[in-house]
Amino acid sequence: MASMTTRSDNPASSRFPVGRQAFPHRDLTGIGRLQRHEILFLLAEAQQWVEFNRQSAKHGDLLTGLTVINAFFENSTRTLLSFEIAGKRLGADVVNMHAAQSSVKKGETLIDTAITLNAMRADAIVIRHGSSGATQLIADQVDCPVLNAGDGQHEHPTQALLDALALREALVARGQSADDFTGLTITICGDILHSRVARSNLLCLQALGATVRLCAPPALMPTGIEAMGAEVHHDFDAALKGADVVMMLRLQTERMSGQFIPSPREYHHLYGLTKRRLGYASGDALVMHPGPMNRGVEIDSDVADMIDRSIITRQVEMGVAIRMACLEVLTRARRGVKGWS
Ligand code: CP
Repeated sequence: MASMTTRSDNPASSRFPVGRQAFPHRDLTGIGRLQRHEILFLLAEAQQWVEFNRQSAKHGDLLTGLTVINAFFENSTRTLLSFEIAGKRLGADVVNMHAAQSSVKKGETLIDTAITLNAMRADAIVIRHGSSGATQLIADQVDCPVLNAGDGQHEHPTQALLDALALREALVARGQSADDFTGLTITICGDILHSRVARSNLLCLQALGATVRLCAPPALMPTGIEAMGAEVHHDFDAALKGADVVMMLRLQTERMSGQFIPSPREYHHLYGLTKRRLGYASGDALVMHPGPMNRGVEIDSDVADMIDRSIITRQVEMGVAIRMACLEVLTRARRGVKGWS
């Protein structure tokens, strides 16, 4: 078995309040509920799992005997698989519930589904749902930690955390600060209106000190988003000017009723990240995308695959480490870890 650290021998943990004060939440429903030091705590905890996951043998036992249920009411590749891998690498029994094959299809309500999962004595429930607030609704009905794997247009907290971890790693590789994103300008461009990723990232990146620019066609920009402290742009070239990081988002057609853009071709012309357009950003700007990508629409392949600038596959790698950290930290009380009950 690969060697495994716990909080007590994780050097990063000494920078944070002791025990439960470091992360006094039962659930992870949104970045909006977290303090800056709590975000940094999860990032620091995840770092040990990044290293653990790079070993050839990567099976631990901290969560042995615990049952993690991944209840996904919407499609997913990255989030579902990485939560499953994360739970298994920590030694938990992981069960996936796909809504398409569940009794939801027979008319069972979300609350009755939650009560059913709770009766099976899950030790953690990971939820993805198409309705904003669904995760909190379930959290209010169950006795175990609930982790939001994306709820409607509200939040996707573990995505924002993994994005921060990937960005931090890239900055450290360039000799820059690990924890403080002050002075960094990050342009997020795409379907901001329907994006829980944009919302969680805005909250997370600002908490870490970054300046965030949001760019979208007027029809895909939420009204009043400036109140959250973002710079709002509709001209992509202007939004890119001098940016240190460019994060592209796909058009979430599954959430659109009616036509929001004239055509994918016209959208690409105005808002697609091409190599030429990346030239408006800073000379070594990093490129990010949470996936899934629609190549040739919001991002060109020759940008998405730039080995020296794109950290898109690193984002996926960090997803497993972040989800391990979240599952491990949120189950400490149940596991009777000293200072966490
Ligand atoms: N980024 C993300 O949430 O991807 P999936 O929909 O594949 O989980």
